[in-house]
Amino acid sequence: MATPQTDSPSIIRSILFVPADSDRKLVKSIDLEADAIAFDLEDSVMPANKPLARNKLGEFLKTNTCKAEHWVRVNDVRSGELLKDLAAVVPMQPVGIVLPKIYGPEDLDLVSHWLEMAEAMVDVTVGQTKILAVATETPEAVLRLSELGNRPRPRLAGLIWGAEDLSSAIGAGNPRHEDGSWRFLYQQVRGQMLLAAHMLDVQAIDTVYVDFKNPEGCLANAREARHDGFTGKVAIHPAQVETINSAFTPSDDEILFARRVVAAFEEGEGAVSLDGNMLDIPHLKAAQRLLANV
Ligand code: COA
Ligand code: MG
Repeated sequence: MATPQTDSPSIIRSILFVPADSDRKLVKSIDLEADAIAFDLEDSVMPANKPLARNKLGEFLKTNTCKAEHWVRVNDVRSGELLKDLAAVVPMQPVGIVLPKIYGPEDLDLVSHWLEMAEAMVDVTVGQTKILAVATETPEAVLRLSELGNRPRPRLAGLIWGAEDLSSAIGAGNPRHEDGSWRFLYQQVRGQMLLAAHMLDVQAIDTVYVDFKNPEGCLANAREARHDGFTGKVAIHPAQVETINSAFTPSDDEILFARRVVAAFEEGEGAVSLDGNMLDIPHLKAAQRLLANV
């Protein structure tokens, strides 16, 4: 059995999805500078290949450790594949699982119980396996996001949003406009997930930028996500990793400015002026938050 990589997940800037049935992509993932790898057993693997993908990943992780945190995207609760996934994945001791297509908090509770069982059976610390939930892939999940706050869920490390499964679930077309921007419904869903993640005080992870041969577009998109309050972003190709990491890393100028903001409040006044602009407590909190993560 593998050894645990770490008992507490860090803040993930980039999480790269790696189809687990591809030898080439598994090997490639070893040295990548992503903060996290999500080995995928779900929608990048054809149904007939699920057993092969589970076995391949198990064999791969017996002899290899990626620089990045190991996560595994399992199949959803209603797929008929999830128990087999958990039985295979828990002994690999990833930092956690990515759980797609949830309908509501009861899916997290059910999977948490199943994880407890799987952990106990192979002597993994109970509660060790964290969950990143893909929380917007069904209409029910979106409408019920606020219910995720109905009780503490210590395994829950973050929320991810996705548009493609939702648009397919409601019989809609491409969720993007021709210029690549999100149609109204998906902007709304993105915002809802962002608020839910912050309500829960967990990581808020932005969805994929599919045009992986467009680094400028990816950079602008990732910067926008960070500006909006996301803590990280999904990558689908190695070429996106560095771009996303840089977008989610505060620049030297931002750090310097945040230090100046904190210094400006040292006299104990609640409203101050800096470079001709008024700053009050929300500015101070934003600066402290930025500095806490550098
Ligand atoms: N993880 C690890 N390695 C990857 C990779 C990924 N997600 N995507 C590409 N690579 C590797 C390729 O294997 C290739 O390496 P090699 O020459 O040593 O074999 C190299 O990076 C360049 O790949 P490239 O030829 O540009 O891309 P591709 O045509 O092989 O693959 C995709 C394009 C989109 C199919 C591929 O990036 C992919 O599978 N992405 C993840 C899809 C996924 O997981 N979707 C579900 C989550 S949204
Ligand atoms: Mg999906």
